[in-house]
Amino acid sequence: MCGIVGFIGQEKASDVVIKGLERLEYRGYDSCGITFYNPNESKFVTNKTTGRVSKLLNENDYPDNNHLAIGHTRWATHGVANHSNTHPHYSMNDRFVIVHNGVIENHKELVFKYLPDYKFRSETDTEVIVNLIEKFSKELSVLEAIRKTISLLEGSYALLIIDTQDTDKLYAVKNKSPLLIGESDKGIILGSDVLAFVNYADNYYLLEDNSVITVEKINEKYNFEIFDTIGLKIEKPEKHPMDFVTDELDKAGFEHYMLKEISEQPAVVRKIMSEYMDGNDLKINYKVKSLFEGVNRVYILAAGTSYHAGLIGRVYFEEIAKIPTEVFIASEFAYNEPLIEPNSIFVLISQSGETADLRACLVNVREQGFKTLSITNVPTSTLAREADQTLNIYAGTEIAVASTKAYIGQIAVLAILSNCLSKQHSLDLVSEMSRAAVSMENIVDKRDYIEEVVQKTIKGDHCFYIGRGIDYFVSLEAALKLKEITYIHTDGLAAGELKHGPMALIEKDVPVIAIISQDHINNNTRSNLEEAKAREAKPLVISLDNTSKGNDEIVLMDVHRLLSPLVTIIPAQLIAYYKAIDLGVDIDKPRNLAKSATVE
Ligand code: AGP
Ligand code: GLU
Repeated sequence: MCGIVGFIGQEKASDVVIKGLERLEYRGYDSCGITFYNPNESKFVTNKTTGRVSKLLNENDYPDNNHLAIGHTRWATHGVANHSNTHPHYSMNDRFVIVHNGVIENHKELVFKYLPDYKFRSETDTEVIVNLIEKFSKELSVLEAIRKTISLLEGSYALLIIDTQDTDKLYAVKNKSPLLIGESDKGIILGSDVLAFVNYADNYYLLEDNSVITVEKINEKYNFEIFDTIGLKIEKPEKHPMDFVTDELDKAGFEHYMLKEISEQPAVVRKIMSEYMDGNDLKINYKVKSLFEGVNRVYILAAGTSYHAGLIGRVYFEEIAKIPTEVFIASEFAYNEPLIEPNSIFVLISQSGETADLRACLVNVREQGFKTLSITNVPTSTLAREADQTLNIYAGTEIAVASTKAYIGQIAVLAILSNCLSKQHSLDLVSEMSRAAVSMENIVDKRDYIEEVVQKTIKGDHCFYIGRGIDYFVSLEAALKLKEITYIHTDGLAAGELKHGPMALIEKDVPVIAIISQDHINNNTRSNLEEAKAREAKPLVISLDNTSKGNDEIVLMDVHRLLSPLVTIIPAQLIAYYKAIDLGVDIDKPRNLAKSATVE
């Protein structure tokens, strides 16, 4: 969600920050801004826009010799997305400038208690931080003023702070919201995602919560130091080389990241097979396997698309590994914990590994002494680092806000893990997954046909996906994909539930799309579709060769019944994509959404 980038050093700082913000655009935002020091006029300059980051560059001038800048893409939590609420924010007397990712839950109390005489220029929760620093700096050093301020804050915050009286220094703080440091001979860059460092850092460092960072020039070179909240210096964390594949960041000839990522899905399945399977042997780390020893129940926690993958994970844990399993939406579990069976393990699924709702659950269940396993696409993420063990889904960087290949990766890893935990290794995964990859490829290759189907069928403001069992779980994900990138109201329903209420919404030409991949419920789901047709709905069936009948519109190559979600979701992803093309909306960055939901 949103992002921050700051740079100090021997490059044109405004360029580093704006390029970095562009790399973070995929995370979603509704306004953006930058503050930099103009040495020619000895003053700080701030530019803001409620448009795209490119406007910051194209509509303003930046001197070549600017060396210090901080920037922000904002996903508004307090105050609408307008100019005055856009970051960076100045303190009342203009001494300090700040950018902030996160939420300050007690900002109103803090204003009331400490800043009754301060004038505020925005509606954000952020401005209180910069004003507290200014107030406390009247009696304390800047570092102490920052420390005192954060000791009062409740909530999540990644902060970059400039003291306008010291143009050779940059301050930062991390708590709950992501923040990393990158370094090169040319300077120090800070940002909420390592992608912002591409081309500007040779190495990067991950930061723990409650870190306070200072960056300054020592012997002609910029250097950083990390302190805890008491003021004690902390040893620098492990240094990581910037060695990940940057090709993933390009569209590879596709018009949108979403289509590129949909097309990569068969390769993701094959990559996961090569990472976790050696012939018929499963290469899941024994430390992961041993976490499940003596476990009587699995609790899966996740949000959004990852939650939908978790629902399929439950089927795998129960049917393949024979372990009773429950699945919870992270934001619900965090505040309404059910009665938990004592010998349990928590499996947390997250593409980004940064979802705040899930992090809150992780902290909570670890405090209660439960075992935890995270399944993420980002091995350096908070959830990957903080769970007892982690499994990488190897999907490669996912840029489009609408998650596609990560969902496939999560399902494939859950299938392999469950098979690994099963006494009999009941699924012949090598052949079944290879077959699924071929079936996935077939449908991706025939995507022009899906575009035609969309033009004929998906009309109007409402749409329904229906299914039973595992197809119902895919229906939920299919509906999320369509609504999030086309803004068409779409529900995913258990097919049998249609008649218990939603049928009231069915009228002439409302599309009802049935997913039918399971033989034992084939006729039941078809009967439900007939009921909708009788109310003049526009039907569409996605089936497999062995469940197809008559004139089913989309028939996919057969795969093992349990692996059908890997295949049946693909036409639904393509339906969402082509409908969004038809409507001319911003496919990779749908309105109001963020890729990484770092606020609870
Ligand atoms: C996916 O298309 C959505 N944009 C969203 O539901 C997402 O899956 C959710 O925010 C969870 O994110 P995570 O997997 O990074 O935790
Ligand atoms: N809560 C702050 C605001 O609304 C920061 C939001 C963000 O993380 O972008 O301005």
